[in-house]
Amino acid sequence: MEQGTATAPIDDRPYSPGLEGVLAGETSIALVDGANGRLMYRGYPIVELVRRSTYAQVAELLWTGMWPASAHLACAPLSKRVTEALRNLPASTHPMDALRTAISVWGAETSPGWPSTVEQARALTALAPTALAAFARLRQGLEPVAPRADLQLAAGFLTMLDDAEPDPAAARALDAYFIVGAEHGFNASTFTARVITATRSDMASAICGAIGALKGPLHGGAPAEVVNQLNEIGTPEAAAAWIDDALARGERLMGFGHRVYRAYDPRAAALREVAEGMGNTAEWLRLAVAVEDIALRKLAEKSPDRPLKTNVEYYTAAVLQGVGLPPDLFPSTFALARHAGWTAHVLEQNAANKLIRPDVRYIGPAERHLPVEAAG
Ligand code: ACO
Repeated sequence: MEQGTATAPIDDRPYSPGLEGVLAGETSIALVDGANGRLMYRGYPIVELVRRSTYAQVAELLWTGMWPASAHLACAPLSKRVTEALRNLPASTHPMDALRTAISVWGAETSPGWPSTVEQARALTALAPTALAAFARLRQGLEPVAPRADLQLAAGFLTMLDDAEPDPAAARALDAYFIVGAEHGFNASTFTARVITATRSDMASAICGAIGALKGPLHGGAPAEVVNQLNEIGTPEAAAAWIDDALARGERLMGFGHRVYRAYDPRAAALREVAEGMGNTAEWLRLAVAVEDIALRKLAEKSPDRPLKTNVEYYTAAVLQGVGLPPDLFPSTFALARHAGWTAHVLEQNAANKLIRPDVRYIGPAERHLPVEAAG
């Protein structure tokens, strides 16, 4: 064959950009039914879990498949090395980077190895809130607060942030948020964790990768942007014009749209119920509900063939504001909640492992060769 004329073999296998609609595995952890707006953890509907269970019970359910009548998961103390690593970070560090750093140091000092275990899943899920609370204090020049063994994760996290007794209503609302955020099928961060696990790498590495994926604004970074969006809109009367302008500029409305859900995201519905039960969110919530109605109408006009509905991040913003968290901690608080799901997927991947390694269609130059004078 003449130089420069060889072409790659034609690969006409189907390709779906972003792997949309591609089945990339099997799971018994959660059913995400996008067409009908249903989410179930091991068969239990999310609304039922939010109303009648705790995050500790849900985490055990995700890890073991068994429903525990009761469960207690308290925040775990940090080692000296993890604390020192957080202390050495610049105060301007993104909280997701701080969390990833803490998990990485934990992995370096405990060498969790392969295969991963339920004990490691419990340990990491319990460590993460302590690490994030410690960093949130250190960046303000405050000393970290030791975790309390008598409190469940959400209450313990709030206590360590503020060094104060947790408000029971706020702790319950955050626990409900943790349940809603615990698991969601093969989303980008969970898939990342499974790809890493499939190489027989350890749980800490998998969770560091997952945190990196969750950091992006198209995945876990949206709720803080929902707050900015609503602050910019300001009043329900200003919403229609603001949204028209944003869509005309080709911008996305944060808190709307989802890769899987074509119906209303059941997590948004569950969180809206939680937010409505919180006394201190009333004014913000009124604005959010009014803007949501207008946004849904505008999105339906813009994309009549692709239903764009409210996603979990929209009402996440209301709940996390209501419990008193600063917006820049929203994505990393989502990461705390998702630890149960990530680690459950690591365990499931371990149990029936196969290296995840898809093919890619080559679309680059045909075979060619360096100019003769390039040699030497
Ligand atoms: N606002 C306006 N238009 C939107 C939005 C939105 N929120 N979401 C999707 N679209 C439009 C896109 O512009 C695109 O239009 P086009 O075909 O005319 O170019 C079409 O819908 C399809 O968009 P894709 O990006 O291909 O859809 P995908 O399934 O990949 O996107 C995603 C899902 C990333 C969540 C998207 O809806 C989005 O960016 N939403 C805003 C960010 C957000 O809320 N993220 C949180 C998601 S929930 C979570 O990760 C936990």
